[in-house]
Amino acid sequence: MKVLIIGSGGREHVLAWKIKQSPLVKKLYCAPGNGGISQVAECVEVSADDIPGLLKFAKKNKIDLTVVGPEAPLVAGVVDTFQKEGLKIFGPTKKAAQLEGSKVFAKQFLKQWNIPTADFRTFDKINEAKEFIVDAAYPLVVKADGLAAGKGVIICKSLKEAQETIDQIMQQRIFKEAGKKVVIEECLEGQELSMLAISDGEHFVMLDSSQDHKRIFDDDLGPNTGGMGAYSPAPVVTEDVVKKIESRVIEPTIRGMHREGRPFKGVLYAGLMMTSQGPMVLEFNVRFGDPEAQAILPRLKNDLVELMLASIEGRVNEIKLKWDKRSCVCVVMSSGGYPGKYETGKEISGLASAGKLSHTFVFHAGTKKEGNKFFTSGGRVLGVTSLGEGIEVAIKKAYDAVEKITFEHCFFRRDIGAKALKSIPRQPSQPRVRV
Ligand code: AMP
Ligand code: GLY
Repeated sequence: MKVLIIGSGGREHVLAWKIKQSPLVKKLYCAPGNGGISQVAECVEVSADDIPGLLKFAKKNKIDLTVVGPEAPLVAGVVDTFQKEGLKIFGPTKKAAQLEGSKVFAKQFLKQWNIPTADFRTFDKINEAKEFIVDAAYPLVVKADGLAAGKGVIICKSLKEAQETIDQIMQQRIFKEAGKKVVIEECLEGQELSMLAISDGEHFVMLDSSQDHKRIFDDDLGPNTGGMGAYSPAPVVTEDVVKKIESRVIEPTIRGMHREGRPFKGVLYAGLMMTSQGPMVLEFNVRFGDPEAQAILPRLKNDLVELMLASIEGRVNEIKLKWDKRSCVCVVMSSGGYPGKYETGKEISGLASAGKLSHTFVFHAGTKKEGNKFFTSGGRVLGVTSLGEGIEVAIKKAYDAVEKITFEHCFFRRDIGAKALKSIPRQPSQPRVRV
């Protein structure tokens, strides 16, 4: 088979690495890819948002399967365009991708199907939104309706902050069209986790749990980022918790989407808060998480291409997933200044020696290759990932690898996985021996 991956981040690098292992795959392309991806796939100069360009390439090169990494082309309808031309593509249609493309749609869907989520109101008129927040309880969460590259959610501690946020989103339009409407919702407390499932529109399989680290600084301080690291599995997700998430969130979502005439095929990613009332949905994404994919896919023993074909062909019920029991930890190394302004073009050293460490993979996000050298080209630069017997070992191995890599002003969190260590149940203490 000839396979085309769309995207250019760390998620697409791990997808390329995993897809390449499939005996079904003879040739792998990535549009546009990055420096690291160019080592496993042929990178093609077509951007992830250029749907006509992607279609032209797929037809000309007789691509048998296209895999979409990021949300923007999904929400813009890349799957519909490819399907109309009779091409196989893994991911949801434009109508199904609304689960991520519109937070107003997602919240109304959750309410309609009785799926646990924070109490909310939606607004398309700025004066009504501003009236509502006067008597609201704080902190309060304000969300731009549309895609905002992970920056559209603001937790407001006071009325003043909420007023400013609504002005920025609805009046100054800092997120452009994405800010035509807002969701205002109650602030939930608890541990966050990511549960992903792969569906064919009717059936689904759950992937193992993972946990992201959204804030830039240790101890979850500072502004939100795309994700500074992840681990899988998350020890807080016991079998009982998985069952609850499956029956209260994933199953009703797949069923509801089917009944609404927008069957969901592809990766359904539920961002959840573990509250005292059980798991509640914070958001849906309609693709693999980044960096969750870097922590999950190295543990998946199945052929990912077979799984994707089963999703497209409506036979996910035939698949049983098998997992490597080891833990996987991914530490993101970013450019100094990220998630604000950052510099690019810095030479990266130490990649080869880090890559030689056992069960360690350096997935590239924002890099470009020039000759034999790699340079930074984005905010998140690398996802340094290790498998280990237990989370403690995986953390140590990932950080040993991180220590070997450097570039000017490089930054990374030092506490990836620390939360998992805290939530591992302690061994009961030895009974005291009476003397
Ligand atoms: P989202 O893009 O909806 O995932 O939101 C980004 C981040 O904002 C989430 O990962 C949470 O950390 C936070 N968040 C979103 N909604 C809520 C909420 N209702 N209560 C508390 N935190 C939230
Ligand atoms: N890691 C969060 C996301 O992929 O949206």
